[in-house]
Amino acid sequence: MSRRSLLYAANWKMHHGPAAARDFLSRFLNLTSPVADRRLWFFPPSISIAAACEASAGRQDVTIGAQNVHWEPKGPFTGELSLPLVAEAGARAVLIGHSERRHLFGETDEQVGRKLAAALKARVTPLVCVGETLAEREGGRTEAVVTRQIGSLLERITPGEWEKVVLAYEPVWAIGTGKNATPDDAAQVHELIRFEISRRGVAHRVPILYGGSVNQGNVLALLAREEVDGVLVGGASLEPDSWAELVGLGA
Ligand code: PGA
Repeated sequence: MSRRSLLYAANWKMHHGPAAARDFLSRFLNLTSPVADRRLWFFPPSISIAAACEASAGRQDVTIGAQNVHWEPKGPFTGELSLPLVAEAGARAVLIGHSERRHLFGETDEQVGRKLAAALKARVTPLVCVGETLAEREGGRTEAVVTRQIGSLLERITPGEWEKVVLAYEPVWAIGTGKNATPDDAAQVHELIRFEISRRGVAHRVPILYGGSVNQGNVLALLAREEVDGVLVGGASLEPDSWAELVGLGA
């Protein structure tokens, strides 16, 4: 594996409360040492952000993030969390537009764009997800859907601000289903995304992660493609020993 920079992001979804997050990280950090050019990001449930930050303090290669936020900095939005609130808890990154947010909770391109702009304003690094559904892929609409999603992000921020953004291509049909996109499928869409942002004047090489049923068996083939700058992983990131093994495979 080359020495290029790789990002491994663990999306814990609705797993691991504060005690479990602490236990996970103390075990995981014992099993891993920092590796040059390897970044390890964790997205615990928001209630566990502070515990995860405490448990990983001192490890410069680890970043803790939030899975979702509201775009407003404060206000009467019962049940929501703002960027200043998650940042106060220690979050330095935030997942935006994950397909579960878009498809299960009705998040629109417009809302995703507002969250992106708000994250940049709050200096919390956004990891923005895009990707097509199975029906869209089968209908030959992958390119159109991803281009639309990327286009709506481009409307919200300036070309220079892309330096602070990380993207993830997560085909919805591959998330939690055990069906991952082939390295060729992923590389093709990553290239399309890169083309779309560079033709709109973004000079920076924005990292693009792949997500959707990544596991120990397929991660190396995906990372072998130079278009893939890392992985965003749900199910295979939930257990410390096997997650430490997965992030160690490419080291
Ligand atoms: P999965 O989830 O690895 O379980 O498919 C990925 C994600 O939802 O980010």
